[in-house]
Amino acid sequence: MTTTTLHLHSRLQVGEVDPRIFGGFLEHIGRAVYEGIYQPDSRHADNDGCRVDVLTALRDLRMTAMRYPGGNFASGYHWRDGAGPKPERPSVRELAWQSIEPNQFGTDEYIRLCRKMDWTPMLTVNLGTGTPEEARNWVEYCNSPAGTRYSDLRVAGGSPDPYGVKLWCLGNEMDGEWQLGHVPAAEYAIRAQQAAKMMKDTDKSIELVACGSCGVSMGTYMEWDRQVLEYLGDAADYVSLHRYVGNRDDDTPDYLAVTNSIDRQIEEMDAACRFVQARRKSKTRAYLCFDEWNVWYKSMQMDGAGQFAPHLLEEVYNLEDALVVAGFLHSFVRHADVVKIANLAQIVNVIAPILTRGDEMLVQSIFHPFAMFSARRGGVSLSVSVDGPSYESKSHGTVAYADASAILDDQRLNVFVTNRDPVATMELIVKPADLRVEAVESAEVLTGPDAKAANSYEKPDVIVAKAFDGALIKDGAVSCELPPLSLLAMTLTVA
Ligand code: AHR
Repeated sequence: MTTTTLHLHSRLQVGEVDPRIFGGFLEHIGRAVYEGIYQPDSRHADNDGCRVDVLTALRDLRMTAMRYPGGNFASGYHWRDGAGPKPERPSVRELAWQSIEPNQFGTDEYIRLCRKMDWTPMLTVNLGTGTPEEARNWVEYCNSPAGTRYSDLRVAGGSPDPYGVKLWCLGNEMDGEWQLGHVPAAEYAIRAQQAAKMMKDTDKSIELVACGSCGVSMGTYMEWDRQVLEYLGDAADYVSLHRYVGNRDDDTPDYLAVTNSIDRQIEEMDAACRFVQARRKSKTRAYLCFDEWNVWYKSMQMDGAGQFAPHLLEEVYNLEDALVVAGFLHSFVRHADVVKIANLAQIVNVIAPILTRGDEMLVQSIFHPFAMFSARRGGVSLSVSVDGPSYESKSHGTVAYADASAILDDQRLNVFVTNRDPVATMELIVKPADLRVEAVESAEVLTGPDAKAANSYEKPDVIVAKAFDGALIKDGAVSCELPPLSLLAMTLTVA
C-alpha cells in the first residue's frame, strides 16, 4: 500500500466552477440523433418522438450546455432544411459522414429537447459551405421577436416566443483538411468576423465561440489560434479546444498519464489568449470552450455509405477509459478560472456514455465519472497539492499516482481522486489546512476487475459507481483506502 496526502486551504482558490463545463454534444452522425435521442417508432418514444429511456439516463448526468448539430456535420448543414413542417423537409445526402439526413429533427425539435432536459442550447453555424448571412439568419430565426422574415417562420411553426439561444459556435474544426469548406486561418478569420458581426448585430446578447486549432498534433496548433483571435478581437468570447485520446499502445500507466497533457493543452491555449489580449492592449480576453473531448480510438468507422442512421463511431468503453474521462474532468476543475464551457463528445451511440440496441439501452463505464463529478459541481475550485508517490510515464513525464481536484461549496467540500496505480491500494488522507472535516455526506467509488473490463448488454453492471463507506474521520482529516485503478468522489461536511 502507498500513502498520498492531499493538502488544501479554503483560501487557495482557482475560481468558480462554471456549470457549463458539464456540457454535452449531440451531432447528426450515425445513430446519435436517429435511434439514439429521437426514435418515434420506439416503444420508449414520448409525444415528441424522443426516447424516454435514453433521456431518463441522461438526466442523471445533469448536463448543461448541449452543442448541436455538429461537429463536422455542421459544416455542410443548412438550418432551413430542418425547419418548417416535417413532411416538407428535404432528405439530403450529407457529406461529412456520407449518410442520408432526413431532417426530421431540426432546430424546433432540438430546442424542445433542451427545454425538456434543462439543457442550455449551443448552436454551431455552418462556416464551411454556408455563408455568414445564413448564420445570421439562424440567429434571427431563434432569437428575434415575431415580425421579421425568419422569426415569422419560427412563429408559423408554433413557437411565438424567441428561443433565446445565447451560445453560438463560429463553425467547427475549420483548420482540419477533412472539414467541408476548410480554409487557412486568415480566411477563416475573415469569414468568422463577418458572421460574428452580423450575428451580434441581430442579437447583441449572444456569446460566440471561435474555432481554435482542433488538436495539439495539428501543424496549425497555436499559430491558427493567434491569428484568429487577433483578427476577431472582442468578437470572440471563447476559443474552442478539441481533444480525443486513446490507449493505442496498450500501455495503461501511460494512457492514464494523459491528464498531464490535457492540463498542458489548456495552459497553452490560455497563454495564447493572454498573449493576444496583451498584443491588442485589450481589457477583455477570450476564455476556453473545450467543446469536444472524450476517449476515441477503437471504433473508426466513419463512412455512412449513403445509409440512414449507420453504425458509426460506436466506441465501447472500459474501466481505464472511464478513469481517463475522470482525468479530463479533474483538469477542467483545476483550470476553472479559464475553462468556462466543455462538452463531452457525444451523448448517445456515437462515442457516448449510452448505447442503444433496438429498444434496449446500455450505460457505459464513462457515464459514471461524469455523473460522480456533475452531482458535486457547485462551488469554487481549490488548489490541491498532492503529496505522494509518482511514476515516469513514457509520453507525459512524471505523474503522481493520485490525480485529484476539489470544489468547495460553503460547508461542503467535494473531493475527487483517481488512483492510477494498476496494482497498489492507495491510503488517501485529505487534510484541509484551515477546515475541519466533520462528516462524510456522500461518497462513491468506481472501479472494476481490470483495466479492460467493460459493461455489455449481457453484463451491464461490471463498471458501475458504488456507494463507498470506507472513509474515516480523525482530527479534522479524512482517510480511506482506494483500490487500484479507481475513482473516488466524496462530499465532506466541513467547518
Ligand atoms: O465527434 C466526432 C467528430 O470529431 C466531430 O464531428 C468533429 O468535430 C471531430 O473531428
